[in-house]
Amino acid sequence: MNSVKAGLEGVVAAETRLSRVDGQKGELIIAGYALEEFAGRATFEETIGLLWQGVIPTPNEHTALRQRLAERRTLPQATLQLLASAAEAKVSGMDALRMAAGSLSLAVPSDLGLLEQAEWVVAMFPTIVAAYWRLRGGKTPIAPRADLSHAANYLYMLTGTLPHPDQTRALETYLNTVSDHGLNASTFTARVIISTQSDLISAITGAVGALKGALHGGAPGPALDMVFEIGSTDRAETVLREKLERGERLMGFGHRVYKVRDPRADVLAEAAAMLYREAGDKALYELVRVVEAKAIELLEEYKPGRRLQTNVEFYTALLLHGLNLPTDLFTPTFAIGRVVGWVAHCLEQSATGRIIRPESLYVGESGRQWLEPEMA
Ligand code: ACO
Repeated sequence: MNSVKAGLEGVVAAETRLSRVDGQKGELIIAGYALEEFAGRATFEETIGLLWQGVIPTPNEHTALRQRLAERRTLPQATLQLLASAAEAKVSGMDALRMAAGSLSLAVPSDLGLLEQAEWVVAMFPTIVAAYWRLRGGKTPIAPRADLSHAANYLYMLTGTLPHPDQTRALETYLNTVSDHGLNASTFTARVIISTQSDLISAITGAVGALKGALHGGAPGPALDMVFEIGSTDRAETVLREKLERGERLMGFGHRVYKVRDPRADVLAEAAAMLYREAGDKALYELVRVVEAKAIELLEEYKPGRRLQTNVEFYTALLLHGLNLPTDLFTPTFAIGRVVGWVAHCLEQSATGRIIRPESLYVGESGRQWLEPEMA
């Protein structure tokens, strides 16, 4: 009889050329490149080309892709109305993104191929997130600017101010870093949906729902809240110990695959350092370093042998905070990066033509007899 792997750990469910996660060595390879090799250098548009076509776009292809994305950023009126209603109901940024993602069927011509549909979806994700953020704050959405890169335009649409090149670079490093990561829960969700020959927008919408959960993409906000709750280096041990004594999980630590430090944490820590040069900011950076070291030490004490290390979400929090993004925007911003990987996996999965359909082990009763309920 087959045994059940409740979280599917160790189960290999797909072949992929997109990324390789080595959780024992702490290595992440994206389309053949070590993360450290390209994340801080590639534009996000180059990463899109790399994941979707397998090679870095030529300068001409890069310009053309950037142009096509820029031309597809404007949301349909119905999506904007939906976001306004969502803002009135004060739903979370991820709920708003999920609802708006579904509504993109109104904008994306259904007779296009997957890759062309994907350009529309990826182009509109930042517009959705930024528009919703502004509507939630009682402000008017800012129209996208076609002359800006994907990353710069996102930051621009949040505030109406042109970002400093260092800020754009930091965001691009972040988006590149989270663009793909093996068969994580949201990517698997997208692959399952597209494997039924459903459409791209359904797959992406489902993936947003999977990413929203606290055990997947929902951790960076709470990770930053934890750092602020600690407040000063001398309180780190007390606060963290109290949490562990209460049986709470420390957000930003632990990973299903990585049993050593998540390589994405290092890349993001380095990118974040660029944003924390001023004196006051430096203090926060130092506090984060102390909290991290103490958390790892205490996790080993409370969960010996579990090898719980810093994950991507911990430094995501620091980097996005350094870009002045509020915590509500952390997970939606993750989605702006990861949607590119979801699309790439949908392309791979649909090429296999095989529906994903595992089995379950029945543990219920059998041979029960149907008795009509007695009349009162
Ligand atoms: N803090 C405290 N204890 C933890 C933590 C943590 N962050 N992570 C795992 N543990 C403990 C568990 O309670 C469990 O203890 P037990 O065996 O005594 O019951 C043990 O370590 C093993 O944990 P699992 O749940 O089996 O680990 P799993 O691989 O299922 O979970 C996960 C991985 C969900 C990421 C987990 O480490 C966690 O909840 N971390 C906090 C949330 C977080 O940071 N999520 C973002 C992940 S990165 C991403 O998805 C993009």
